[in-house]
Amino acid sequence: MPPHRPAAFPAARLRRLRRTNALRDLVAEHRLGAADLIWPVFIREGERIEEPVPSMPGVARLSLDMLVPAAEAAHSLGITTICLFPYTDQGLRTEHCEEAWNPENLTNRAIRRLKETLPGLSVMTDIALDPYNANGHDGIVREGEIVNDETVEALVRMAQAQAEAGADILGPSDMMDGRIGAIRQALEAGGHHNVAILSYAAKFASAFYGPFRDAVGAAGRLVGDKKTYQINPANRDEALRCVARDLDEGADMVMVKPGMPYLDLCRAVKDGFGVPTFAYQVSGEYAMLQAAAGNGWLDGEAAMLESLLCFRRAGCDGILTYFAPRAARLLAG
Ligand code: PBG
Repeated sequence: MPPHRPAAFPAARLRRLRRTNALRDLVAEHRLGAADLIWPVFIREGERIEEPVPSMPGVARLSLDMLVPAAEAAHSLGITTICLFPYTDQGLRTEHCEEAWNPENLTNRAIRRLKETLPGLSVMTDIALDPYNANGHDGIVREGEIVNDETVEALVRMAQAQAEAGADILGPSDMMDGRIGAIRQALEAGGHHNVAILSYAAKFASAFYGPFRDAVGAAGRLVGDKKTYQINPANRDEALRCVARDLDEGADMVMVKPGMPYLDLCRAVKDGFGVPTFAYQVSGEYAMLQAAAGNGWLDGEAAMLESLLCFRRAGCDGILTYFAPRAARLLAG
């Protein structure tokens, strides 16, 4: 609410401060910077591979030798954090998801490689079983049910392996109950006191994740949907309960996901909890903007920067976005 009722016209002419670039910049209430962006990157096995993801124009799966220079370039543009998503070889996807906590799996090798070459760049990971699961779900499936507590045990192992590998930030994206507390307890017990958790706390069962599932190779495998663990898009109170719960269990930061259709929740989380708040501008949001820009229906750069700035206005401290390097380059002028 404005602290003061504005004067009446013509004493007040709100257009006075919109007249020039200089005046508009001077009174801008929010700004977007490269340091606000987390870059999600898809990784794969092999060498010298940059494999385009068809449903995400401009995004490619990178082999680890290609990841390092890409991360270096992003870091030099001011991006502080990169988030890794593995495309697991199809043969390593099983019912029990053992590859998820293999210390030598693709993600854990990528973490070590990045921390060796770019120690100043924060490495974030995703904790969920879907890239390792024969059926594409985030949890272990028994007779059609995604079983909670057994999944949490698997997630804890996965978190421990990532912490051992040197991850700075763990991102549980699975939406099982009790996982934040269990992971936090295991990290404390294992001497990983300083590993941060950015919880995918308000994560909705969304149609906007489609292109991501292509990118990690889970789309063709997914049996059914994720509605028994991800939140119903109709529910706001429930999402805020999830945020409160995850903070109580030891999350350092929280996320709202997807982003653009859920800005009301970003604002509610920031105002209600006053904690570091992030949004994930997900694959479907990226694909929509890129498709429209690619057809000449939108000014792609302007729409991209506007969409990211609006997350800041909605209360987000930062945004996970596939646009991160492109936006950072534009912001650097
Ligand atoms: C997996 C995970 C998903 C995303 C991030 N982690 C997909 C899902 O829940 O099905 C989506 C990211 C995106 O769409 O960009 N747990």
